[in-house]
Amino acid sequence: MLKRTVADLAPAELKGKRALVRVDFNVPLGEGGRVSDDTRIRAAIPTLQVLIKGGARVVLCSHLGRPKGGKPDPKYTLAPVAERLQELLKKPVAFCPTVVGAEAEAATRALGDGDVLLLENTRFEGGEEKNDAALSAAFAKLGDFYVNDAFGSAHRAHASTEGVAHLLSPAVAGLLMQKELEYLGSALDKPKRPFVAILGGSKISGKIDVIEALLPKVDALLVGGAMACTFYKAVGLETGTSLVEPDRLEMAAALVERAGTVLILPHDATVAPSIADGAKAHAVRKDEIPATEAMLDIGPDTAASYARAILSAKTVVWNGPMGVFETAPFDAGTKIIAQAMAQATAQGCITIVGGGDSAAAVEEAGLASKMSHVSTGGGASLEFLEGKVLPGVAALDNHTG
Ligand code: 3PG
Repeated sequence: MLKRTVADLAPAELKGKRALVRVDFNVPLGEGGRVSDDTRIRAAIPTLQVLIKGGARVVLCSHLGRPKGGKPDPKYTLAPVAERLQELLKKPVAFCPTVVGAEAEAATRALGDGDVLLLENTRFEGGEEKNDAALSAAFAKLGDFYVNDAFGSAHRAHASTEGVAHLLSPAVAGLLMQKELEYLGSALDKPKRPFVAILGGSKISGKIDVIEALLPKVDALLVGGAMACTFYKAVGLETGTSLVEPDRLEMAAALVERAGTVLILPHDATVAPSIADGAKAHAVRKDEIPATEAMLDIGPDTAASYARAILSAKTVVWNGPMGVFETAPFDAGTKIIAQAMAQATAQGCITIVGGGDSAAAVEEAGLASKMSHVSTGGGASLEFLEGKVLPGVAALDNHTG
């Protein structure tokens, strides 16, 4: 179902109105508590610009990290994010040290048309993750209408992502949210074929639902990362000291059986005695993994054949690295996939990178801008691809036009 967006709002719905905007400013903080990766902040700017230009009074809320116990923790303050946002918007961003209540409400009332205010971390309130009704009502006092641009948090049914959406009207999607839903949604609903999915990462357990959901839709599902080893073991291969999930072997065997030729496992692997032993890394066939070594990347032949599959596809969705991409030489497979995706994009293929580690890998390779879309949502993009309803999206107004 298409959602109404900020771009659909009439001028009178914006001017002088307080827009309570849920963004996902859950960004990494580095030295001196400064924002070390502002991708998610930049991604929200188009929505903020529509609101500012329309004369709305912008009240931003977000979580940051996972503070324990639903109470304030200075380690997770959003204050550094306000500073970075101010630099990016090139205009003042007021910061409110509380989330809801009298002080926050007064701060929203003090805004002029086009002004921007950022509230403190929503998870400093115990009711946030419980989707508490009283907290949702307190959020509703901070806006005249609601915008959700936090795709990365849309799989969470929290007070600021779901509860409050039922209390303010209109409740619309931001432009980032819309873009994410369009890219991921059209890949699932009407992919240009061939449609290839690449799934990696260490554990099959976190990817089972997405494999199940994608298998009937894709022309090929290419598997990489340590999770390939659970499949190897399930079909009776030696996996040495590789990470294997013994409790998933039966399921993996059943999947291989059912998927037929659509599910493709790496036919060679880069192995080493340990991650620290990069100098001893070598490639072996999948049936030659030594008993004392672990698979730490897909092998070069597999990387080359996956790259060929990507280059002959018209839609590619990628989630999860092919190996231990943080440590050379085990980043080789992931890099080859990223490069093939970039080349495929240039040839007109729709390339979509799920958030989390694979987004970090394309960023690291300097290729993020060469993809059709790099999702800002890790867990959210995975749940979307699994075909699940995202509560933060479901709660928004449907497009009626
Ligand atoms: C994310 O980084 O995936 C989102 O911001 C959600 O964060 P969470 O997993 O702590 O809810």
